Amino acid sequence: MEENTRREYFELLRFETVGADPAKLRECSQCAAWLRKWLEALGFRVELAMPDVKDGKASPPVLFAERSGGEGSATVLFYGHYDVQPPDPLPEWETPPFEPTEKDGRIYCRGAQDDKGQFFAFFCGMRDYLSGLADGAKCPTIKILLDGQEESGSAALEELAPTMRRKLAADVLLVCDTSAAAGLRPAIVAGLRGVSHFTVRLSGADRDLHSGEYGGLAPNAAQAIAELVASLHNPDGSIAVFGFSDGIISPEHEERRLAEAFAPTEAELARDIGCEPVGGQLGKTVAQRNSFEPTIEVNGIHSGYGGPGAKTVIPCEAVAKLSMRLVPGQTPRGAFEAVRKHLEDRVPRGMKLSIEGFCPGAAGFRLPLASPLFRLADHILGEMDERGPVFLWEGASIPVISTIRDASGAAPLIVGWGQPEDRIHSPNESYSLVQFDKARDWARRILSAL
Ligand code: BES
Ligand code: MN
Ligand code: MN
Repeated sequence: MEENTRREYFELLRFETVGADPAKLRECSQCAAWLRKWLEALGFRVELAMPDVKDGKASPPVLFAERSGGEGSATVLFYGHYDVQPPDPLPEWETPPFEPTEKDGRIYCRGAQDDKGQFFAFFCGMRDYLSGLADGAKCPTIKILLDGQEESGSAALEELAPTMRRKLAADVLLVCDTSAAAGLRPAIVAGLRGVSHFTVRLSGADRDLHSGEYGGLAPNAAQAIAELVASLHNPDGSIAVFGFSDGIISPEHEERRLAEAFAPTEAELARDIGCEPVGGQLGKTVAQRNSFEPTIEVNGIHSGYGGPGAKTVIPCEAVAKLSMRLVPGQTPRGAFEAVRKHLEDRVPRGMKLSIEGFCPGAAGFRLPLASPLFRLADHILGEMDERGPVFLWEGASIPVISTIRDASGAAPLIVGWGQPEDRIHSPNESYSLVQFDKARDWARRILSAL
């Protein structure tokens, strides 16, 4: 990577753009201003949309940029996000989370991959492409949409996008925020799961109680939430919620076959995560469990005492944060209502249940495999790597893509260069220069071809 590109990449990474943290709003605005300048230098007209303040909360700006191509040229819309996950837990970082540090060909920093590294590499490839254009050469109209809240639900963009139909109208929606297959083999993402989340609260006594004085008498909220949450699954790991899986559309034979052929093995997964990959339903394959089945996950349970030593107490309140990954055929609302009914029918004795903060997120989607766009991508990725690309149906989500697709009318082409060792969302996130160059090369080639 040239000195100049590295300097820019590092500058971008140093902005502490934790989009979910109101204290980081200024950092987000500064980062957006930096990106505006960067894009203006390439001939883009750039707007920063600051959606209205809601419940006293402002949101990070949404960046929209446009560079018009020749008469009759195709229009490409690129989506990425400049916000990052919080760096916590801080003590586990071996280098400062917002000071990019190179080690063995990898850049360590929060956002080094997700998504600053991926979209900035794409931007650099776009710059390579534009600076290589002959005078007057035909080139696509390029539109760019950068989100400052992808990691926390894209509230502003979810609201803005439907009002920007004209501006967003495009033929192709390019996204560089996903993974490649094992060994950095290129991958076309043919589906993403949806995601929704909410909070479940159980309240018992009017205060935490002495566990001897009231032990055997008062109900225990920690015990109760454990039982309630456990009731969501059967002993074989399948989901026990009536109606939750109604209407799920099974993958076609060809989708199943391709997903099975390129899914990681259980042993590879075990090496990746450091324990046996036993999540999901017993007897189903890795591809089924991660690509084509929904999940209900407990993201956290909080109740009672967790400090040093012992405290003999009966907790009066317990909270569980739950999320669901959804597949085609499920709607966020429908899945949530099924879970809500399940929980309401099982409120532990002595407890009051409240379900709060339902955030619908988005439904999952799968894209048709037989499209001219995928054939083009297949050809280009085959030139970049003799193994050729695989199709991936990711278990993860980029919820706002569905909204952007509907608002723009564009066909998604989702190709990213992540690898498990990047440790996105975890301490010591990194992106290798090899991956960066792949993403950059991909951008140059796909833009040249469109
Ligand atoms: N870039 C990821 C999604 C991703 C990760 C796709 C790995 C493919 C492979 C994205 O930034 C992300 O983390 N999405 C969140 C969305 C949520 C916070 C609403 C997710 O999937 O949990
Ligand atoms: Mn991302
Ligand atoms: Mn992410």
